[in-house]
Amino acid sequence: MSETRIQDRGEAETLRDVPHHKLAAAADKAIRGGVARPVAHDSAARHVTGAAVYVDDIPELPGTLHLHVATSSRAHARVAAIDLAPVRAAPGVVAVLSAGDIPGENDCSPVFHDDPVFAEGEVQYAGQSLFAVAAVTREAARAAAALARIEYEDLPALLTVDDALAADADLLPPHEMRLGDPEAAIAAAPRRLAGTIRVGGQDHFYLEGQIAYAVPGEGEDVLVHSSTQHPSEVQHTVAKVLGVADHAVTVEVRRMGGGFGGKESQPALFAAIAALAAKKTGRPAKLRVDRDDDMVMTGKRHDFRIDWEVGFDGSGRIAGAVFRQAARCGYSADLSGGIADRAMFHADNAYDLRAARIHSRRLKTHTVSNTAFRGFGGPQGMIATERVLDAVAFALGRDPLDVRRANFYPPGGGAVTPYHQEVTDSVVSEMVEELERSSGYRARRQAVRAFNAGSPILKKGISLTPVKFGISFTATHLNQAGALVHVYKDGSVHLNHGGTEMGQGLFVKVAQVVAEVFQIDLDRVKITATTTAKVPNTSATAASSGSDLNGMAAKAAAEAIRGRLVAFAAAKYRLPEDRIVFLPNRVRIGNEEMSFPDLVQEAYLNQVSLSSTGFYATPGIHYDRETASGKPFFYYAYGAAVSEVAIDTLTGENRVLRVDILHDVGRSLNPAIDLGQIEGGFIQGLGWLTTEELWWDEAGRLRTHAPSTYKIPTANDRPDDMRIAIWSKGENRAETVFRSKAVGEPPLMLALSAFSAIVDAVAAAADYRAFPDLDAPATPERVLAAVEDARRRAGFA
Ligand code: MTE
Ligand code: MOS
Repeated sequence: MSETRIQDRGEAETLRDVPHHKLAAAADKAIRGGVARPVAHDSAARHVTGAAVYVDDIPELPGTLHLHVATSSRAHARVAAIDLAPVRAAPGVVAVLSAGDIPGENDCSPVFHDDPVFAEGEVQYAGQSLFAVAAVTREAARAAAALARIEYEDLPALLTVDDALAADADLLPPHEMRLGDPEAAIAAAPRRLAGTIRVGGQDHFYLEGQIAYAVPGEGEDVLVHSSTQHPSEVQHTVAKVLGVADHAVTVEVRRMGGGFGGKESQPALFAAIAALAAKKTGRPAKLRVDRDDDMVMTGKRHDFRIDWEVGFDGSGRIAGAVFRQAARCGYSADLSGGIADRAMFHADNAYDLRAARIHSRRLKTHTVSNTAFRGFGGPQGMIATERVLDAVAFALGRDPLDVRRANFYPPGGGAVTPYHQEVTDSVVSEMVEELERSSGYRARRQAVRAFNAGSPILKKGISLTPVKFGISFTATHLNQAGALVHVYKDGSVHLNHGGTEMGQGLFVKVAQVVAEVFQIDLDRVKITATTTAKVPNTSATAASSGSDLNGMAAKAAAEAIRGRLVAFAAAKYRLPEDRIVFLPNRVRIGNEEMSFPDLVQEAYLNQVSLSSTGFYATPGIHYDRETASGKPFFYYAYGAAVSEVAIDTLTGENRVLRVDILHDVGRSLNPAIDLGQIEGGFIQGLGWLTTEELWWDEAGRLRTHAPSTYKIPTANDRPDDMRIAIWSKGENRAETVFRSKAVGEPPLMLALSAFSAIVDAVAAAADYRAFPDLDAPATPERVLAAVEDARRRAGFA
């Protein structure tokens, strides 16, 4: 196993302290910062010194206005009357904007035309945008907004999954996947179990909140700086709202201070309002949403209820399974269709269910419209599967790892998923075997048992769970990307592509790819802000596909220019093209060598184009909704984790003591970045499953809208003992950029091992005589209730 722990990551700007590069520079055998090098994030130093420019750091133009959005205080109501005169008259107010001020369409939804920029007539969640105030300061705008006189007539509100199920409130049509005859398989199986698990949502809690800064241009033009994962969609939405062509709107984003899916569709509202204010007033307008408002107004991870049934034999081999998933979408569709689909696509996780039915309902409630969140439904699909495996193992009195292993997709192919894609690249058995050994799983399970026997109050648990995550957008057409590469006369390179940087390290990875193609040092490649004016019609940076798609597009652009340089040199020096070889920072032409900048200069003087676009579309993927079958994923990313936890049976408090992770990133483009993604993803998953709890009151108002009431993991919650390894045998059998694999989302689901370990610890509290009933998040309250319930069922006094 590779122990690729990078302690000293150096500084990317100068590439100091990175051992690889010292060696390489000395030997002149490799460029500094090519692919596979553990180069630091290009902005690491700027992030920590405050020099990185976020939207709110862009110097404000004179006359800049500040916006505040007034929102509904009711979950579901008719707006009987709304008097904005006092708002308009308030000091500092320059404009008040509501539905009537929209020249184009009053909609900022990604797909279904069901998200008004400003609600009209009816409000459908507490926090829905009603009107906006543009004033000379943010404080003046906020104070003025509070002066509005609004009369509501309350209507009945559906707030929870159970409310929506009882009312048969489907927001989108249900979908079903079917493999074999699971009902018959379950009926015929020697053993059967059924159950229900509920899993909560999650707030993104990006450190930089939602923000947009719009600068009006001449005529219909507007430039919008938006903190968005999806500049093209923001561009299109702004154009739609303003009633202008897409070409009038330019959207730019250098970086986000975190997105996590929360900036895939949600920024459109804020950008549209800022742009509207800018065009109405002719002044630059900034909308920076307060943290509490951000949490109340923006969508979150979908909470789910999943009912399951399974049939199995005495070894724990599953014969068939049925999952009925119910997702709370909120008041509008947003991306719920794709998210609920992905939950279905991951109902099998890494297991060959043989016969399965996955049924999905997408429910309407009068709560905020839920949205993308790292994993995009996958985590919710997988938690039920892992629950099933734990339940089966408990029923048989077997080690859950043995039961899991008995059901893994086989390495050689042959088994198909519930959506009929053959799993041809499964490395899960091999990885789990390696992790079982390296983590000392068996001995530690014994030790946990021994500890529990002698510890009446504190109980420990341990679990190993796998991850198999499908890579590609399941809406097939989204799997495309573009790039734009310029080589300047001095041989330095300007790189642009449609991907956005949210901290995940996409920009440095793509720059490494371009440096590799030209064989030039990484600091010769300029990373530039994403803008709709350079690369058009892009997909969101999402589905973990950023480096797969944009890396390939940038590689194509760079290769096009390299091809022209080769053709030019071959013609000029009358050599076959294979005698032109790119070496580190220089080019061998026949028996001569020339620096890369010198060749570029010569090419320029000979009128060779040194700029190119590049394009990539993932080949061979498709999904047919009618038959619920196809090959939606180009490949799968795999991983496995062992978590050991302790719970306090008097308080329900829990703590993760040790985590061992083995994760497959194919051939890593950048092991330092990938390790960061694995660690961050795991911790974010741990937050979702243990501490982050969203709580709405009976009036449908979110009451956990600040860090005081909503607990994300801090540095203190990071397990003291965390051992992360990138799988040294990792290789992508699919032809991805340098055979790497996507890494952004899959590691989040490694945290299911911690949830499962908590279940094991709760079982220990009842002497392993009752299978714990535990929903997520496993907060102290839930763990305590689960301990008491399990003890009652086990016959404790
Ligand atoms: N890492 C950081 N630091 N910040 C983020 O916002 N978003 C995650 C993941 N890792 C995120 C992150 C999500 S939801 C996705 S889909 C991927 O990064 C997107 O980037 P990629 O496709 O380049 O991996
Ligand atoms: Mo990530 S949830 O696909 O933005």
